[in-house]
Amino acid sequence: MKFFADTAEIADIRELQASGLLDGVTTNPSLVKKSGRDFLEMIKEIAGVCPGPVSAEVVALDHEGMMKEAEVLRKIADNIAVKVPLTIDGLKSCKKLSADGTMVNVTLCFSANQALLAAKAGAAFISPFVGRLDDLGQPGIELIADIRTIYDNYDFPTQILVASVRNSIHVLDAAKLGADVMTAPPSVIWQLFKHPLTDSGIASFLKDWETTGQKIG
Ligand code: G3P
Repeated sequence: MKFFADTAEIADIRELQASGLLDGVTTNPSLVKKSGRDFLEMIKEIAGVCPGPVSAEVVALDHEGMMKEAEVLRKIADNIAVKVPLTIDGLKSCKKLSADGTMVNVTLCFSANQALLAAKAGAAFISPFVGRLDDLGQPGIELIADIRTIYDNYDFPTQILVASVRNSIHVLDAAKLGADVMTAPPSVIWQLFKHPLTDSGIASFLKDWETTGQKIG
């Protein structure tokens, strides 16, 4: 499963990139607001740091407006994935952009039928939001299982990009279900490295090692 960072904070992206485990980045208008930075400048910088797909979202709601914004975004770098919402205009734009060879990430997916439409429109990625479904008391991860079944039934190449990931259980469940990608805030990704038994194991090994008086090299 690929790991994307769901953030617009360049320092966090650099740190994750240095870990060697970062496969891409996703952004959205709320994350841009949080960064306080100029959108286009920031996307260019991120795309230069992370060679994997970097999602940049359009804000127009109509097809024509989306295509104009997509034109600006896709010219920024070869690794830009244009993010469009799961609406009729969004899917129309997805179909056109994908046919032209642009990666498209269809976002704000909350049902398996919506995911089916995105695959038919040629999306490179579909972003089902698991956390926001959980918030409504509807297990978001069940949506991932349904999408996996549908995409496998028809060999759709669209990658399932699990979004609105809030914790390590979401990551684990997504991996068990065979999701292609998950995008999570950096704090959730760093949490995956941690286990108290790893820390206590290191401490006890080091304590015993010191008593041997030896050195390596
Ligand atoms: O990738 C979409 C994500 O940013 C939404 O996350 O936590 O705002 O539901 P959240």
